[in-house]
Amino acid sequence: MEGKIKLALIGAGMFGGEVHLRTYADLQRSGLAPQLGRLGLDHWARDLAPLSFELAAVAARSESSAKRACDTFQKWTGQRPRPYSGAEPWMDVLRDVPDLDVVAVATPDHLHTPVILAALRQGAHVITEKPMCLSIHEADQIVELARARNLIVSVDMHKRYDPDHLRIRDEIKNRIGEPLYGVAYLEEPLEVSTTTFKWAAQSDPFSYVGPHWVDLIWHYYHSKPVSLTAVGQKKRLAREGIQAYDAVQVRVDYANGMSIHFYNNWITPPDFEGPVNQGHEIVGTDGKVESDQQYRGLRFWHKGGGSRTVNTHFTREIARPDASKAHVGYGVDSLTAALAAICRRKFFGASRDELAALYPTAEDARLTVAIVHAAALVRDLNFKYTQSGLGAPVTARFGSGGITIIDPIQAGKGTSVFARVYEKAI
Ligand SMILES: NC(=O)c1ccc[n+]([C@@H]2O[C@H](COP(=O)([O-])OP(=O)(O)OC[C@H]3O[C@@H](n4cnc5c(N)ncnc54)[C@H](O)[C@@H]3O)[C@@H](O)[C@H]2O)c1
Repeated sequence: MEGKIKLALIGAGMFGGEVHLRTYADLQRSGLAPQLGRLGLDHWARDLAPLSFELAAVAARSESSAKRACDTFQKWTGQRPRPYSGAEPWMDVLRDVPDLDVVAVATPDHLHTPVILAALRQGAHVITEKPMCLSIHEADQIVELARARNLIVSVDMHKRYDPDHLRIRDEIKNRIGEPLYGVAYLEEPLEVSTTTFKWAAQSDPFSYVGPHWVDLIWHYYHSKPVSLTAVGQKKRLAREGIQAYDAVQVRVDYANGMSIHFYNNWITPPDFEGPVNQGHEIVGTDGKVESDQQYRGLRFWHKGGGSRTVNTHFTREIARPDASKAHVGYGVDSLTAALAAICRRKFFGASRDELAALYPTAEDARLTVAIVHAAALVRDLNFKYTQSGLGAPVTARFGSGGITIIDPIQAGKGTSVFARVYEKAI
């Protein structure tokens, strides 16, 4: 079957302008088929091979970065998407390209929802960067609209596709018995919060990168959160006049009895050997899993360059005979999974329900957003109380009654210790 998928990319910075743009360039060149075997979807290769892909538009805040991304794409593919810029450039894109199939969202963390909702209203499927959004109420709007319009919203949770994590989920997980406790950490470079992002104060290290691990734990165990506590620190970025958390630590307790600690920062000095420091460990009744994502056995150093590691699993360049570079890795796999589902929906009549196990859905992401949302409220209260010498006693409870913040400092003040911030079942 011949057919075309028309895409637009909204947000072309560190991630949109690299991983998304590169992936869509490779798609334009060779289609989806070359990537499918990595996802166990090779049986669709013949069906999907004839489909073509066109990146019709790229939007960014500034005209110069939108044009730069379009220039780069043209250099890679010979075809130039139309650049858009401004405060809400996605509205211009949707107006000018009414037959878009997919809107890819790689705007800052706090700017995903308006783009996703506008795309869904116009009938486009969505591939969005994590976190899907920062508020559980916005997550509900997205879930409901996608369902009502029968459209796919796929969230870029690429840790699901890391080959080590596939192995853990499919095999090792069954050998360590019942999960007891775990730790998951992702420590980002200082450059991200001080130079790359103009929006560090509107997010925080847990909201920014914690969703990767929260989603992975959900993907492994499908157990819902029952409670959490969270704390954060503001010392290093304050030195630069940036009012944002340096680091956030969150402990989530789950319905299956396990307790997972999530540690995140974005203040790692540039001398660190890897692009980021990351990994996770889970202890079970009969064993343990350790997965170091930063140092996987490849380390090199040379005079003046320090000691360095690289993560060749995320994306790696493979030289083609014509000296251009193909890209493979779990960073691409997650976008491929979303596009495979969208193609099955558009061209082969598959239902959303049939496809839901293939990619991280908006319903999955809603659970992650519930944790991110509650953690931000708990963290801010604990931060305020810690500053006043009162410790960090605030927690959140999840359940059929929604999300309740439990603040013991309110006891005896005439206000309730229990504040319901969300009414629907988690
Ligand atoms: N999946 C991952 O591993 C991963 C890694 C990094 C970032 N991300 C996520 O990707 C998203 C973007 O992060 P980034 O690192 O590229 O950030 P960035 O700050 O480098 O880029 C943000 C992009 O959004 C654009 N933008 C800002 N305001 C806009 C507006 N009003 N309209 C249109 N475009 C606008 C900017 O021009 C820029 O192109 C974030 O949600 C982030 O959490 C994901």
